[in-house]
Amino acid sequence: MTYVSKSSTEEIRKRFDQDVERFSNLETGQTATVDAPLVMELITQAAFKTTVPIRRLLDIGCGAGNNTLKLLELVSPVDCDLVDLSLPKLEKATERITAVNSGKIRVFQSDIRTADLPGQSYDVILAAAVLHHLRDDNDWETVFRKIYRLTAPGGSVWITDLVWHESESVHSLMWDQYREYLLSVGGKEFKEQVFGYIDREDSPRPVTYQLDLLRKVGFSRVDLLHKNSCFAAFGAIRSD
Ligand SMILES: C[S@@+](CC[C@H](N)C(=O)[O-])C[C@H]1O[C@@H](n2cnc3c(N)ncnc32)[C@H](O)[C@@H]1O
Repeated sequence: MTYVSKSSTEEIRKRFDQDVERFSNLETGQTATVDAPLVMELITQAAFKTTVPIRRLLDIGCGAGNNTLKLLELVSPVDCDLVDLSLPKLEKATERITAVNSGKIRVFQSDIRTADLPGQSYDVILAAAVLHHLRDDNDWETVFRKIYRLTAPGGSVWITDLVWHESESVHSLMWDQYREYLLSVGGKEFKEQVFGYIDREDSPRPVTYQLDLLRKVGFSRVDLLHKNSCFAAFGAIRSD
């Protein structure tokens, strides 16, 4: 696969700078994601139940902070490091998280590939709807290795994302389901808008690929929480 026609990181940042409100609804999550409220619930519940204590959290591609806020409904205070390309998103996330959490908040306006973050220090890492921006195998493996390095012993990582499939026929079946979902939520225009930016910006991988990669980079227990059409929620725990 070639990635030359895909948006640059700078182009992705610019689009997200203009789209803060769509990512600021904790009740619905983002409507372009199938089962958005359920997957937010599942990854944060899984983090809460597998990882004790949760003192430090990293939210990769935090957007307006929805997933961190969801976790803070279960455990608080937590020191939160927020990484995102988009400054308006980080500002919105900081405002919303500060209102409910007395833990320290640090903000990194950065690409996760290059963000300078402390090793083995996060009890929980969340990465929701962001890793599909990674490109070739090397990019994916480098970032998954980084996530492993950043996770504290006994800590965990939880991911929700748009996913591809190993078989083209299975992918086409799932993509049809996603098309129907988008039509039911926002009609033809919404469906075309979402398919347009996926085509320009995204290079997702199958959930099976990502589960294998989590194990390959060192995580010891890897679990699938949910999958529906082209969306999955999953995670892994680093041994003590
Ligand atoms: C689809 S939004 C999801 C936001 C949030 N996680 C949520 O679920 O509501 C993806 C976010 O990831 C950020 N992002 C995209 N690529 C990134 C990268 N390489 N490093 C850090 N953040 C990135 C975007 O700026 C955007 O805010």
